[in-house]
Amino acid sequence: MLLRDDALQDKVILVTGGGSGLGLSMSTGFARLGARVAITGRSAARLEEAAPRIDASGERVHAHAADVRDAGAVAGLVASVVARFGRIDVLVNNAAGNFLAATEDLSPNAFDAVVRTVLYGTFNATQAVGRHMIERGGGGTVLSITTTYAWTGSAFVVPSAVSKAGVLALTRSLAVEWATYGIRLNALAPGPFPTEGAWERLMPTPEIEERARRRIPAGRFGEHHELVELAAFLVSDAAPFITGACVTIDGGEWMGSGGQFNGLLQVPREELKGALRTFRRRD
Ligand code: COA
Repeated sequence: MLLRDDALQDKVILVTGGGSGLGLSMSTGFARLGARVAITGRSAARLEEAAPRIDASGERVHAHAADVRDAGAVAGLVASVVARFGRIDVLVNNAAGNFLAATEDLSPNAFDAVVRTVLYGTFNATQAVGRHMIERGGGGTVLSITTTYAWTGSAFVVPSAVSKAGVLALTRSLAVEWATYGIRLNALAPGPFPTEGAWERLMPTPEIEERARRRIPAGRFGEHHELVELAAFLVSDAAPFITGACVTIDGGEWMGSGGQFNGLLQVPREELKGALRTFRRRD
């Protein structure tokens, strides 16, 4: 990592969905930078398996199962982290749910399952941890994982898109409302980063995966350490004046898919340049 080994020394960081995927990568990276890390998720077994990977000694990791959709369970989660580590300095809203589906085929319960996890879950955790931070009076920071289609929208993931847009609005709103308490709120918008959960739901065939990779101007998917370092920086004391920001980390994916002539990227560059020379007007 490029950050100093003590960049997060003794910070208490709660990561929702911290038992797997990017949540586990962030939790492990934060611990390596000196943080005490609390992880939550619905499956106690998954958390128990993840905890030693974050800190083999067990001293700097706390696992508490909770469903972020349940505000009461989230209040219990916050109490348990505070009982173990004394406070919470940082919340990372990472827990999410998503799947590809034609919107006309969604049942009310399917829409509900995603919106309750992503939007309500983020609200529940942010409100509960925010109340703790306000009461304690020491400030804090909240980082929420959103996505680039929070502002472009995306076909076939409508429950996720509307929820992530809400998470972004929540981040910007509270960055203003809670600045007086010394609480910073930021968002990260990752493009595709391979994880087991996301890949089985969103990249179900090699063709879909390859099409997704080709959309990225950088020509590759993200690597976990890249996102971990950015997240660590944003929640660290190195970024005290950054609030209400949404930082995109996607290898140029979302902008690459928008520009009118970006499709020309698919033509080999020398071939393209040769063609452009022949098209050039000479008056
Ligand atoms: N297409 C359409 N509907 C789907 C679906 C799919 N691929 N997957 C689930 N659903 C529907 C279910 O049919 C159910 O609706 P119904 O009761 O009307 O039949 C509803 O969604 C809830 O499903 P269920 O599995 O009971 O909910 P859950 O709360 O256990 O799971 C999900 C929530 C669906 C979001 C699940 O994918 C999940 O837990 N994901 C967490 C991890 C994750 O998604 N990570 C990837 C992030 S990119």
